Amino acid sequence: MKVTVVGAGAVGATCADNIARKQLCDELVLVDIKEGVAEGKAMDLMQTAQIEGFDTKITGSTNDYAKTAGSSVAVITSGIPRKPGMTREELIGINAGIVKTVTQNLLKYSPDVIIIVISNPMDTMTYLALKATGLPKNRIIGMGGILDSARFKTYLQQSLNCSQNDLHAVVIGGHGDTTMIPLTRLATLNGTPVSNFLNADQLKQVAADTMVGGATLTKLLGTSAWYAPGAAGALLVESIIRNQKKVFPCCVYLDGEYGQKDICLGVPVVIGSKGWEKIIDYKLNAEEQEAFNKSAEAVRSMNGVLDTLVA
Ligand code: 2OP
Repeated sequence: MKVTVVGAGAVGATCADNIARKQLCDELVLVDIKEGVAEGKAMDLMQTAQIEGFDTKITGSTNDYAKTAGSSVAVITSGIPRKPGMTREELIGINAGIVKTVTQNLLKYSPDVIIIVISNPMDTMTYLALKATGLPKNRIIGMGGILDSARFKTYLQQSLNCSQNDLHAVVIGGHGDTTMIPLTRLATLNGTPVSNFLNADQLKQVAADTMVGGATLTKLLGTSAWYAPGAAGALLVESIIRNQKKVFPCCVYLDGEYGQKDICLGVPVVIGSKGWEKIIDYKLNAEEQEAFNKSAEAVRSMNGVLDTLVA
């Protein structure tokens, strides 16, 4: 089994590190456009294998996709990250061209690959990857919801002062500061609604903190985050490779589900060996559906910009 991670920056390298430590594949290829970076990080990871004892063989390549041939799964992290004060949407001009080229290069050598998109603006980049490759919709998955849900659970945990492993909470919609929808109504602490423990104002604050969770980190770090985004990408790879059928909120192509068509947006899906296998209907209430429709509207207008950028 072979996995490729494109983009050997902080997110890509962290994702590769998680994939290797979990021993999800025997071969892992890191690709980057910057001369030597992927090779260097692959070498560093291989030296980690001597310490941690994992068996995955990791190699790096400067933009030579022949080395990725036969990959079952590829994770795309390429492109520029945001700087403090920037929205994810502002990255579209540069990242659209990069993501389009990367997806086409991957397919040339791995026609059966399942693609996970992390590059921002993620919802639009997922839509672009689907349109640029013409792949069956189940083989293109955008990673944003797992990360946003992790941030949601972290803020809930801090408010509840509970164990961080007792929470179930999901963020759907777009992966943007104003487009994501933390589903507070469905969030539970060990099966009990969190609304039994937190009042409306506290829940509102948790949701607001979640929505700007990425921006908060970008302000602190001077660039966007990598530990949680990289780990979230690896979690998706794991559910595909081990055919775990886990339910994760992921950005996938909607064809009428959740009331939307011809758009990639975050909804709960089952992830297994075929990619995303099924959309789960959470039966949104009117308020949640309205938020979802608004999120779709914003992402759709961003998708419209693609026509002016990549022919
Ligand atoms: C984030 O929210 C990188 O979009 C990613 O941190």
